Amino acid sequence: MKKVLVCGAGGFIGSHMAKRLYEEGHFVRAVDIKWDGYFEEPYYSEKITLDLREYQNCLKVTEGINYVYQFAADMGGIGYITKIGADIMHNSALININMLQAAVENKVKRFFWSSSACVYPEYKQRDPNIPPLKEEDAEPAAPDQFYGWEKLFTEKLCEAYKRDYGLSMRIARYHNIFGPYGTYDGGREKAPAALCRKVAMAKNPGEIEIWGDGKQTRSFLYIDDCIDGTIKLMESDYDRPLNIGSDRLVTIDELADIIIKISGKKLQKKYNFSAPQGVRGRNADLTMIKKILGWEPKVSLEEGLERTYRWIEQQLKKDTN
Ligand SMILES: NC(=O)c1ccc[n+]([C@@H]2O[C@H](COP(=O)([O-])OP(=O)(O)OC[C@H]3O[C@@H](n4cnc5c(N)ncnc54)[C@H](O)[C@@H]3O)[C@@H](O)[C@H]2O)c1
Repeated sequence: MKKVLVCGAGGFIGSHMAKRLYEEGHFVRAVDIKWDGYFEEPYYSEKITLDLREYQNCLKVTEGINYVYQFAADMGGIGYITKIGADIMHNSALININMLQAAVENKVKRFFWSSSACVYPEYKQRDPNIPPLKEEDAEPAAPDQFYGWEKLFTEKLCEAYKRDYGLSMRIARYHNIFGPYGTYDGGREKAPAALCRKVAMAKNPGEIEIWGDGKQTRSFLYIDDCIDGTIKLMESDYDRPLNIGSDRLVTIDELADIIIKISGKKLQKKYNFSAPQGVRGRNADLTMIKKILGWEPKVSLEEGLERTYRWIEQQLKKDTN
């Protein structure tokens, strides 16, 4: 049994991770500033509600802990990260700076940190049919959002803590993780959840709005695969940033069409050209993770979206009752 801390355990990836580790029999201390409340509680051994921007709180939560999974961040989908710069950088940097220092102070054995595909430079993502991004593509640096710059800064911070204090680091660069039990409304939701919500709420026959022209491309990874890959990475010897994602490139139009098919509705797509859409194309190169961890995605996009759509549909029914 390991003594594990999951920061951001009230959010999407953190709650799935806490639940998995708790079910595996580990002692799981779950920490967040607020709780989405989607999973039935308890999915942890101990629950603490604290603001991790405060150093004293970071010290408190890392006490007696061997393994840290740090998912707490000021985070959202393309609408949120396009609009918000200062708060994202301020809040997330403070959390990461204080958590790393507290981990050293409390002699944590290993520290996992969730970076993002948003660290990759804008100049490599101008075409919908771009080659998949390799880990080495991150530099020369030119992320397209403030969010990506904070991620890149914290990757360097982790490297410095590893070099100067010997902190054992594991870093994943996540590429569009989706699935049930995550944010699906309110402005922070990401494309798969937003599209599932729009489709579930649309009249039949009817229409849904797509942000941009629908031709921008991305790859999407189902949450269970993300958790498997992350645990494998945490248990491995690999201590440099590693892509965790899918290499199946789809347009946002194709993503919407899969969800519409799942719903069984007859829906037209209406395009909002002035809505934020991020880089033109982004895909994950999985050569490194396959070689190092022998990991690759197992859940197809169709299967993952089916589970996500059914969950969001059910949530919306609950919300209206
Ligand atoms: N979901 C994705 O597709 C994706 C992609 C790339 C990277 N990531 C990274 O993975 C991590 C988790 O993402 P997520 O999708 O689960 O996001 P999320 O927003 O669902 O979870 C983040 C959690 O952090 C908590 N938090 C924010 N400020 C806090 C504070 N001051 N103190 C304590 N807790 C605080 C939030 O309340 C939230 O529950 C983030 O670092 C994110 O940047 C996610």
